[in-house]
Amino acid sequence: MDMNANIERVMLTSEQIAERVKGLAAQLDKLYEGRRPVVICILKGSVMFFADLIREMKTPMQIDFMAVSSYGKGSISSGKLQVKKDLTVNIGGKDVLIVEDIIDSGNTLYELKKMLNTRSPASVNIVTLLDKPERREVPMEPEYKGFVIEDEFVVGYGLDYAEDYRNLPYIGVLKRSVYEEK
Ligand code: PRP
Repeated sequence: MDMNANIERVMLTSEQIAERVKGLAAQLDKLYEGRRPVVICILKGSVMFFADLIREMKTPMQIDFMAVSSYGKGSISSGKLQVKKDLTVNIGGKDVLIVEDIIDSGNTLYELKKMLNTRSPASVNIVTLLDKPERREVPMEPEYKGFVIEDEFVVGYGLDYAEDYRNLPYIGVLKRSVYEEK
């Protein structure tokens, strides 16, 4: 499969992403000055953004990983949020930064934030690379965001379609024919 051939147009180049990531890292360094947050990568989509963002940050931190899925996303759910992989770090009393690739309906982050708050962290902030506010179903406003985008099917830089395209270095709009022919 030729991944590039299935892209309608490039929405964000790797250079544009890198520049924005630097800007966000500087803002977050300021926010966490003198503190040592637990920075959480929400698998799998956030992996690229997370790796680039934390390398740009100068704040000392702990990192951890979580895999979650919100109800209605096709997986067996116990309650509204299915935790497929939980944290190993105890976040009690800690400053928590959740790193997401995209916020769509907002359900995942809404439920996740609620769940993490039951563990008594000192604070919880969310940084998302992409935000699709048009699709929102619940009130969820991330504290930090990279780009506000239109409701288009985007892939690359961690984002997938049926598990493909995550390793594209840029974010592109997938050709309609790719997902409509299936
Ligand atoms: C994506 C994304 C968020 C969620 C956003 O993950 O990383 O976690 O969906 O959607 P929502 O705002 O409508 O809840 P996905 O479940 O596709 O998993 P992945 O990161 O492993 O691809």
